[in-house]
Order: sequence, then structure tokens, then C-alpha cells
Amino acid sequence: MEKITCTWDYERYPLAELSEDAPAANRRQMRLLYDRAVAATATAYAPYSHFRVGAAALMEDGTVVSGSNQENAAYPSGLCAERVTLFYAGARYPGMGVRALAIAARKGENLVELVAPCGACRQVMLETEQRQDYPMEVWLCGNQALYRLPSAEALLPFCFGKRELE
Ligand code: THU
Repeated sequence: MEKITCTWDYERYPLAELSEDAPAANRRQMRLLYDRAVAATATAYAPYSHFRVGAAALMEDGTVVSGSNQENAAYPSGLCAERVTLFYAGARYPGMGVRALAIAARKGENLVELVAPCGACRQVMLETEQRQDYPMEVWLCGNQALYRLPSAEALLPFCFGKRELE
């Protein structure tokens, strides 16, 4: 028997470190995408769960597109914010890579500490990443901090993706 260890490094940025006057340009970008993901929660259609999720994608050319969860009376017909956003990005900017995807969620008025994407969204995030030749960072936007994950694959160890079919 052999033990195999699989590790990823994640970074946690307390919100104060993302303030406007933070020196590093990428922190300003994090703040911008954080704000866009939080703002997108307001556009959620979530009359059943009352769990409003927003996502914002930073495209390769600097454009930001955002989306939110859209529910349906026939529950499985609804779609999570991450997939709404990535499918919209693919349809609106075909062939353009995504540098980062930020995700935020509210229960009632309160931003949750951390929203972790569901399994189906992780699979779609992986496909977005594998369509481009660099990782798509995932920024989980909580009420205290932003958690920076280096890639979609970091959320899906032992993944099955398009590479398996090539
Ligand atoms: N939801 C998302 O939009 N993203 C996630 O990562 C988790 C769940 C949505 C789906 C549904 O509309 C509601 O949150 C409750 O599951």
C-alpha cells in the first residue's frame, strides 16, 4: 500500500487587505471582482431557497461579466450562479479565457462566511479552465475574507475532464 497525498495552497485575504488603497494591483482587482459578485446576489431569482448567489468572471481582456442563481418551480430546471455566469461568458465572448471567477452568497440580507460551489458547478468550472491554457482562479467571497484558490482543478481532485476524451 502506498499513501498518496494531494495538496493545494489556498490564500485568505481579510477584507481590510483588499481596501481601495491596498498597494498591489491584483488586490484592487480582487476587490473589484468581490464587489461585482456581491452586487450580483441582488439579481438572483431565488423565491424557493432564499439563498442568493452571485458570481463574477474576470475575462482575459479585463471585461467582467456577472450572473446569479435562477430558480424554477420545477426545482432541477433552475441553475446556479456559477454556471449562469460561465455559460453567459462563453456565449457572449466565445473563445475568450477566464482569469478568475468570484462567488458570493447571501442568506437573507447577510453575506455568508464562505460559499463553496456545488459539484456540478465545479465540473463546469473545470471545463472552462481546460478550454484555456492557464488556470482560472476561484475567489470565494465571504463576509470576513476572500479565499483565493489557484485553479478550478484545486476544487476537484481526481477530476474527469475533457483531457480524458482527447
Ligand atoms: N447555488 C448556487 O447558485 N451556487 C452554489 O454554489 C450553491 C447553490 C444556488 C442553487 C439554488 O438556487 C440555491 O443556491 C440553493 O441551493
